[in-house]
Amino acid sequence: MATNYLHVDGILFPKYVQSTENLKFLRDEFVVRDGDVINLTYPKSGSHWIKEILSLIHSKGDPSWVQSVAIWDRSPWLETKEGYENVKIQKDPRMYSSHLPIQFFPRSFFNSKAKAIYVMRNPRDILISSFYFNKALTFAKDPESFEQYFEWFIQGNVMFGSWFDHIQGWLSMKGKENFLIISYEELQQDTRANVERICQFLDKKLSPEELNSVLKNISFEAMKKNRMSNLSLAPNDFIDHSKGKLMRKGVSGDWKNHFTVAQSEIFDQIFQEKMGRLPQGLFPWE
Ligand code: A3P
Repeated sequence: MATNYLHVDGILFPKYVQSTENLKFLRDEFVVRDGDVINLTYPKSGSHWIKEILSLIHSKGDPSWVQSVAIWDRSPWLETKEGYENVKIQKDPRMYSSHLPIQFFPRSFFNSKAKAIYVMRNPRDILISSFYFNKALTFAKDPESFEQYFEWFIQGNVMFGSWFDHIQGWLSMKGKENFLIISYEELQQDTRANVERICQFLDKKLSPEELNSVLKNISFEAMKKNRMSNLSLAPNDFIDHSKGKLMRKGVSGDWKNHFTVAQSEIFDQIFQEKMGRLPQGLFPWE
């Protein structure tokens, strides 16, 4: 096992979460405030997309913030050292992000009025997106082949653990007033309607011009060009930019170009086994 990982309670974490003690500290000591806006994702589900959307809603469509401040400073990762330091000095209303499974998330959230948005995505596309992105992440272990990565993913032997566990954990919050679940696929199908839905959830009113500006600046093309958002400014010891990019394809269904028929059947079977008991219609990609 590569040394860049930490195993805590059966879950593989990237070393940037620092230590088991840090995870416990965040869970038990971090105080979520009522005005906080939190975005939650399993990696490669559209985390940076929702950060950009929330940033632009916050600035009422004015692109100057997203064009001048790095995305990781606008909505810092709570579980990283730099991110945590940044959250501590943020003025209210704070905005931050996390990939943590629910059992590791700050307990104070569950008694707060903070608003959280969980973005989910077809796990088959997450598998593909992470397969490519991990090549660029300098600390991620390299699989020998796509077949091996496929195995790791379905077994949950990947960063932040099993997708199936992550989503099932957070789905237990479904229906709570301060918790919005949205999917990458819905966002893509009708970006305007879903940005409006997010605005409504956050009690934010945008004029038609402001909303148009949000939409213009959150497109795949706009984000791909924006150096503050496309991670091209991330340090080389974190991302080897010659090996992969955050803004790769930005489409749904790319898994069909990668899975063999046998892999597709295995995935369907595991999906059915693990998620089959959940209400129909929960996952727009199924
Ligand atoms: P692909 O690798 O499939 O292209 P995360 O931010 O959680 O790491 O997720 C990254 C994925 O979201 C990448 O998927 C990336 O292209 C996609 N993405 C980011 N911004 C997007 C946007 N504005 N529109 C569509 N997809 C976007």
